[in-house]
Amino acid sequence: MGRIAYLNGRFERHAEAFVHIEDRGYQFADAVYEVWALFDGKLSDPDGHFARLERSLSELQIDMPMSRNALTIVLRETVRQNRIRDGLLYLQVSRGVAPRDHAFPTTPTSPAIVITAKAIDRATAEAKAAKGVSVITVPENRWGRCDIKTVGLLPNAMAKQAAKEKGAAEAWFVDDLGFVTEGASSNAWIVTANGTVKTRDTNANILRGVTRYTLLDILQAEGISIDQSPFTPAEALAANEAFITGAGALVLPVVALDGKPIGNGKVGPMASRLRCLYIEQARATAI
Ligand code: PDD
Repeated sequence: MGRIAYLNGRFERHAEAFVHIEDRGYQFADAVYEVWALFDGKLSDPDGHFARLERSLSELQIDMPMSRNALTIVLRETVRQNRIRDGLLYLQVSRGVAPRDHAFPTTPTSPAIVITAKAIDRATAEAKAAKGVSVITVPENRWGRCDIKTVGLLPNAMAKQAAKEKGAAEAWFVDDLGFVTEGASSNAWIVTANGTVKTRDTNANILRGVTRYTLLDILQAEGISIDQSPFTPAEALAANEAFITGAGALVLPVVALDGKPIGNGKVGPMASRLRCLYIEQARATAI
């Protein structure tokens, strides 16, 4: 993690940046977050992440703590102070501090803002992508508003831990109808036997992944056929390829599901190509 964190208007040493015990983010997960991939010190997919941040906040009736422009300056300054080129930038906005009471405070609180940044070694990330990762399935057990990017991530953390214990990199939630919803921290995709790229639409109870939207635009521009309907784990196992998308994963090939190979069990051409195209586009449009 970078040495400097932004906390409520000040840059502080990371090890000494503390939030209050009655912060509602801490007590009720009454907070939202965003994660940007950083390319050459610049924020990827800026508009998508800002738009989703504004929407998440508005769904919780929390005011944007500052304008997009002001926030961009603070986010970039955090990256600069930590001297990060390639990495991840984390922003969390909670409702703020108030005496513990489930309902929202009646007297106005100042949203608490935390920004941290960490470096990622792109060579290591590319080596991982070249090998592909394994995924497990877990029952969908999250609340009904996964479209809001809140820090209430306990089911996601437990799913990720279950994956880790099985030597996998990600867990896919499977709903009561037997369809994959999304990953613990990524969206889920397959490439069918006829070359169609499939990811479920966002009417389902899933996060509206910013990487997902950018990749859909790329697929359209490339003339690749898209199907936004849900798929089952069995369909994924019968698919040619699979991959996940997210600010951390970017476009990451998946080669096994629940211990069984997907396609020939190796990284496929579509996922590799889409990873390159996505990174190229994200670099070109980062700010
Ligand atoms: N997670 N679905 C879930 C549940 C996620 O947590 C994420 C991102 C995504 C992909 O969204 P995007 O493409 O906008 O990053 C989908 C971030 C990276 C995280 O929690 O660290």
